[in-house]
Amino acid sequence: MRAKTNAGGNFNWIAPVYDALAFCVFGHRLQRAQTVFLDRIPPNASLLILGGGSGWLLEQVLLTCRPKQVLYLEASSQMLSLASQRMVRKSLVGSVEFRVGDESSLKSDERFDGIFTPFVLDLFTEQTLASSMIPQLCNVLKTAGVWIVADFVKPKIGWQKALLWTMIRFFQLTAGIQTQRLADWQKLLVEAGLTCEKCRTQVGGMVSAEVWIRP
Ligand SMILES: C[S@@+](CC[C@H](N)C(=O)[O-])C[C@H]1O[C@@H](n2cnc3c(N)ncnc32)[C@H](O)[C@@H]1O
Repeated sequence: MRAKTNAGGNFNWIAPVYDALAFCVFGHRLQRAQTVFLDRIPPNASLLILGGGSGWLLEQVLLTCRPKQVLYLEASSQMLSLASQRMVRKSLVGSVEFRVGDESSLKSDERFDGIFTPFVLDLFTEQTLASSMIPQLCNVLKTAGVWIVADFVKPKIGWQKALLWTMIRFFQLTAGIQTQRLADWQKLLVEAGLTCEKCRTQVGGMVSAEVWIRP
């Protein structure tokens, strides 16, 4: 039987160099965008970090938010391994479950006070987001929960459009992502019944950090 392929690609090959590449292009700005709204997470929360990569955000979440428990759900076993090694090095493992998989690996009784999707929604087509990823994540978000997104948004400036096009082609080639263009994930979150509570533009307007809630 063939294994199910993740529409968001396979980042195993690129995992060892992903952070260095992101730093070369954006410096620390993508990391900063992910932490803008960490103060929105209440203490003792149960959190889902989906597609957190090599673990930088997880470290910040554990140090800043003091959560009760975290599910670190990563489609790439290599990324997951980097993240768990990082937590061991920093003696921060306590309340984290590291799980290889995607949103379909969530259990039917799992519910979270907070969900993070850091630079993950941009990997998917609108169809996949609308029909699969967003409904599955809404399903595990508690009624009063918050969904924190940091991601690329449609750029208006020429060089930013060229950079985004190059990044999508790059991840098509190296990770096999299926999307050809950036999905309008904000529109899809609204269509899923969520409301944007706060947003802050980052990286010269090509990234947005946002908090989404149920109205
Ligand atoms: C572009 S990288 C961003 C990594 C990290 N968030 C960062 O900003 O450094 C996307 C990450 O999402 C993971 N990913 C892709 N699709 C996923 C899915 N459906 N469920 C969980 N993780 C996924 C990839 O393995 C990869 O680590």
